[in-house]
Amino acid sequence: MQVLHNVDLTPLNTFGLKARARDFVVLADAGELPELVKLPEFNRNSVLWLGGGSNILLMKDYDGLVVHIQNKGIDELSRSDGIVYIEAQAGETWHDFVLKTLSMGLSGLENLSLIPGTVGASPVQNIGAYGVEVKDVIERVRCFDLDTSTFITLSNADCHFAYRESLFKQQGKGRYVIVSVVFALKEQFTANAGYGDLAVMLAEKCAGRQATAQDVSDAVCTIRSGKLPDPKVLGNAGSFFKNPVVAAEEAERLLSVYPDMPHYRQTDGSVKLAAGWLIDQCRLKGHCIGGAAVHDKQALVLVNKHQATAEDVDALARYIRHTVSEKFGVVLDTEPNWLPENF
Ligand code: EPU
Repeated sequence: MQVLHNVDLTPLNTFGLKARARDFVVLADAGELPELVKLPEFNRNSVLWLGGGSNILLMKDYDGLVVHIQNKGIDELSRSDGIVYIEAQAGETWHDFVLKTLSMGLSGLENLSLIPGTVGASPVQNIGAYGVEVKDVIERVRCFDLDTSTFITLSNADCHFAYRESLFKQQGKGRYVIVSVVFALKEQFTANAGYGDLAVMLAEKCAGRQATAQDVSDAVCTIRSGKLPDPKVLGNAGSFFKNPVVAAEEAERLLSVYPDMPHYRQTDGSVKLAAGWLIDQCRLKGHCIGGAAVHDKQALVLVNKHQATAEDVDALARYIRHTVSEKFGVVLDTEPNWLPENF
């Protein structure tokens, strides 16, 4: 394992912020982890486990070791009662993995097509789109436990999944390195196509015939490409804010003033609002500070319009939070990880 120094991270974060890593190593095989943690450069409190770099904001040069997780492999483990268990290594690119499962005739991941990032990052924030969250199809997660320096397996329940949340962002933060994920996929396709835009697009595409998993994937790709910028063309970190969840009374108060406000009632009585809509209502689409801008097709996404600096991103995020809070009384939480956290 070769440790490199002063490595440019600009191409390794999809927002395209300019930053360098003090130390840098590529992990091509998870079996090398016991050796990696013995490196003199390794400090578990300051290491950055980097996947596709699509959910991070590198606000400064990284003063520590960056481990670029690159282990690959997709294997069928077993089949029973129409369920197929597929293990994917953490360094696999998420969308390529989704396409591979579709080509194997399996369904379950089609709604999650075209999400940037890697397989190993998918459980961390429990990626979700178009009515499906990855927790719905995760069977178990294989990790390297830094407390014990052993490989362990966590069940779906052990991972404490919730909306854009998991054990890996909470109590388990800094403890588990995800090395592979086992998914329970289906031989028989049942569509999960209730989500507004998706239902409309599928009805158009498949007039008069049953949609297939591939149809759903194609429709999701079409919708996403229409709204969400391709990071290769315009730097971004996906949704920049989480959709806020408010108490029922708060939602009623807002709905009495804004009857058209999109809102999604949760099973516990709380109500999820659409951060993109709130920002859009403040007429912030296209708003720029320095090189950072609110995407003009989807207000939930901030983009690197022209060599944005960390300060531009910070100032724009603060401005949006302030404006939304003044107009609606709703506080937005950011979604990607800021590095360092206390920037
Ligand atoms: N809306 C606007 N203006 C905007 C953006 C949205 O009015 O600029 C409205 C839409 O018309 C819709 C509502 O807000 O009524 C929700 O918008 P959309 O369906 O586009 O989804 P979202 O809530 O903005 C979430 C996820 C996305 C995911 C989509 C589709 C979060 C934080 N974001 O976005 O995830 O792709 O649903 O399921 O939950 C990501 O996490 O990076 C991401 C892109």
